[in-house]
Amino acid sequence: MLDRGRDAGALVREVRAVGGGVGLGFGLGTSLFEGAGARAPLQLKAMPSFAGDLLDPAQSHGDLLVRVAGEDADEVRTAVASVKAVAGKAGWVVRWGIDGFRAENRVEGGRGLARNPFHFTEGFGNPETEREVADRAVVREGQGEPDWAVGGSYQVVRVIRFATELWDKDSVPEQERIMGRRRDGKWLDGTPTAEQPNFAADAKGRHTPLDSHVRLAAPDRRRPPPLVRRSYSYDRGDGDTGIIFNCYQRDLAKGFEAVQKRLAGEALAKYVLTTGGGYFFVPPPGDAWLDALAPA
Ligand code: HEM
Repeated sequence: MLDRGRDAGALVREVRAVGGGVGLGFGLGTSLFEGAGARAPLQLKAMPSFAGDLLDPAQSHGDLLVRVAGEDADEVRTAVASVKAVAGKAGWVVRWGIDGFRAENRVEGGRGLARNPFHFTEGFGNPETEREVADRAVVREGQGEPDWAVGGSYQVVRVIRFATELWDKDSVPEQERIMGRRRDGKWLDGTPTAEQPNFAADAKGRHTPLDSHVRLAAPDRRRPPPLVRRSYSYDRGDGDTGIIFNCYQRDLAKGFEAVQKRLAGEALAKYVLTTGGGYFFVPPPGDAWLDALAPA
């Protein structure tokens, strides 16, 4: 019987040996567990199509996601070529891939920030401390997940194309009302960036419109959505530009899915189109998961 889990374990060990000063990350797709010896993470499934999505099957899902990240574009390119060569030699087919970058990438107040192709800074809504990141993103014991998955995380990838020409026709204040924040992250009711706006005092959405992105994404300021975002921009030429939205959570339904459903009908919807991506499970650090997936 085909055991993709066993094959993926072997491939991960080989890919790890590629090295070259880059960071490597792995994500396991649900199809990897079909016929595999190991129990799949409880909530892992193929990413469904949400309202407004136009998922291209050739750029969605997959057995194994390999993320190659680094500071130096040439180093990353070389490592990607090596990963592809190793995978090809082991009989794997590369289903899809995409190059991303983070403009104005920086860390401020413990948060990673970057500027997206809509000219807005992203990352303010993320937690400041590693403890809170872990609290939102990392699978714990007692969640009913297989033992090997404790310490891992559910990763959601969405390739979201932006209608930048249409967007750039709007005035900056209009754009800011669609996002619900100023381009630099300040709140529309004048609250400083690092503090919480008083949405309750703005019940009609006079300052921050009710259909703005942040208002729908995180309406209850005392209980932020349990997910951590880390997106990259992409530009494939011919106007095909946007973000590779990435988020991590320990509970897929309470994290990404709850927010995504709330975002249906947001003012931003007419400027964006999700064309690909998938759900993956990032295994915990160390090797125990490899042994669980591919026992010697
Ligand atoms: C469609 C393209 C998207 C764009 C251009 C976008 C952009 C932004 C920007 C500029 C912010 C404010 C700064 C920040 O907190 O990072 C933000 C916040 C946020 N976004 Fe998005 N985002 C997109 C898609 C998504 C998706 C798909 C989700 C999840 C389903 C999401 C969830 C959130 C959350 C949870 C916040 C934090 C809200 C807060 O705490 O105030 N975003 N986004």
